[in-house]
Amino acid sequence: MAYEQWNAVDRYITDVLVPGDSALDAAMASIEEARLPPISVSAPLGKLLHILALAVGARRVLEVGTLGGYSTIWLARALPPDGHLVTLELDPRHAEVATANIARAGLSDVVEVRLGRAIDTLPVLAEEGYGPFDLVFIDADKPSNADYFEWALRLGRVGTTIVVDNVVRNGKVADPDCDDADVEGVRGLNALIATEPRVVATAIQTVGSKGYDGFALAQVVAD
Ligand code: SAH
Ligand code: DHB
Ligand code: MG
Repeated sequence: MAYEQWNAVDRYITDVLVPGDSALDAAMASIEEARLPPISVSAPLGKLLHILALAVGARRVLEVGTLGGYSTIWLARALPPDGHLVTLELDPRHAEVATANIARAGLSDVVEVRLGRAIDTLPVLAEEGYGPFDLVFIDADKPSNADYFEWALRLGRVGTTIVVDNVVRNGKVADPDCDDADVEGVRGLNALIATEPRVVATAIQTVGSKGYDGFALAQVVAD
């Protein structure tokens, strides 16, 4: 079965290029122990987020969907000491696990976990003068993808990079018979992006330990 091979190659890539370290390994172990859903980004995808943050010279990062803080740690590690990452999480238990993992990674001064529905927190961030964010990672409830993307534009600037996780969903995005709410959320996002003149965007399919999925990558190019 193809999945076995994707998983083996993901393990190989991770062993060779993305070796674990105590904070990331402890974060993943704590996520498993707390029985949070096993939907953190894979290690290679986490490292891609880290590299993207380095590539854009990110100082301010917004993450929508924290879970146990695994992707948060990858992103926050790319920030300078005076950088800031704010990550939005609905579930208090997830936020608690994430806060402990972020502390263990020595990133408490850089990372702020905000509890609540992201759609409620985002306008608060705007009111409080947050932004402009250099990089936005959208990885929460999929039906809200387009709303979060619009907020990323509002809280961004020309040059902001936006990454959206889980846009392929085992290929379901291209199955006209699939009307799953999460898949419709991805299609809604793509429809928005397609008519949004302020961004250039693409989407990339991925295979690996998390199965067959993908991410969208967009860059804000105009006001
Ligand atoms: N980015 C994480 C995974 C996030 S999983 C990682 O890769 O490590 C998606 C998270 O979004 C879950 O923790 C879920 O509780 C949270 N979530 C779901 N709906 C939300 C909402 N409306 N507002 C904020 N967070 C939400
Ligand atoms: C799901 C959510 C995710 O963010 C992910 O990376 C994988 C799966 C889900 O809700 O099924
Ligand atoms: Mg995801």
